[in-house]
Amino acid sequence: MIPPLLKGKPLPRHIAIIMDGNGRWAKSRGLPRIFGHRAGTQSVREAVKVCGELGIEALTLYAFSTENWARPKAEVSALMGLLSKMLSTEVSELNKSGVRLMAVGRLHELPAKVRGELEKAIDKLKSNTGLILNLALNYGGRQEIADAVNKIIHLGIKKVDEKILSKYLYTADLPDPDLMIRTSGEMRISNFLLYQLAYAELYVTPTLWPDFRREHLYQAIASFQARERRFGGA
Ligand code: FPP
Repeated sequence: MIPPLLKGKPLPRHIAIIMDGNGRWAKSRGLPRIFGHRAGTQSVREAVKVCGELGIEALTLYAFSTENWARPKAEVSALMGLLSKMLSTEVSELNKSGVRLMAVGRLHELPAKVRGELEKAIDKLKSNTGLILNLALNYGGRQEIADAVNKIIHLGIKKVDEKILSKYLYTADLPDPDLMIRTSGEMRISNFLLYQLAYAELYVTPTLWPDFRREHLYQAIASFQARERRFGGA
């Protein structure tokens, strides 16, 4: 199920996406911001489907950052509502596609309803062996590094190297993302997977997240395939 455009060169193992531009999408239509988030859920479904079809190992989606709490209360609660609804309604479809779910972030600070739905969905999908869908929820890269260091201190480990640090990050079980996509044209990492993106190829598209479809994802992957990855070597 690999389209001709992407044949012949290795695919990324792990794609990470900053799903940006929902607010602008809604604003340009004279709609409240939450309509943009709602429209963005269709792009989430499509990205998961396409990554599954391509046999990508992992897809990490930045769904809610530690900074997003600063948004208006009504938007935060609408986003939380959308997340818990998605988690409960999508689980059987995800199961049919063999998707396994995980989440990274300070999950204990999420509303109980979201945590409950998240735990249920993770449990229901835990034996699947297809795409790993990793949701970054109440996630911040600096906070993740601080949390890892605190775990290491707590364990009494006296000397840290990159391997140990990686082992105590939330993403210990995943390969580092090799492709990071950001929609809506912003050229920033915004506290997303700071440690793990060290060698990732970055792809920024002006397309707003609610408009991001299969062909946009193919384009991003094709751009990744066209690059020469040197990892600091010559
Ligand atoms: C950024 O757009 C988007 C978010 C903060 C939320 C993304 C969440 C979803 C698409 C909901 C569904 C998610 C899952 C994974 C179940 P923005 O509001 O910052 O847009 P703007 O920059 O145009 O204002």
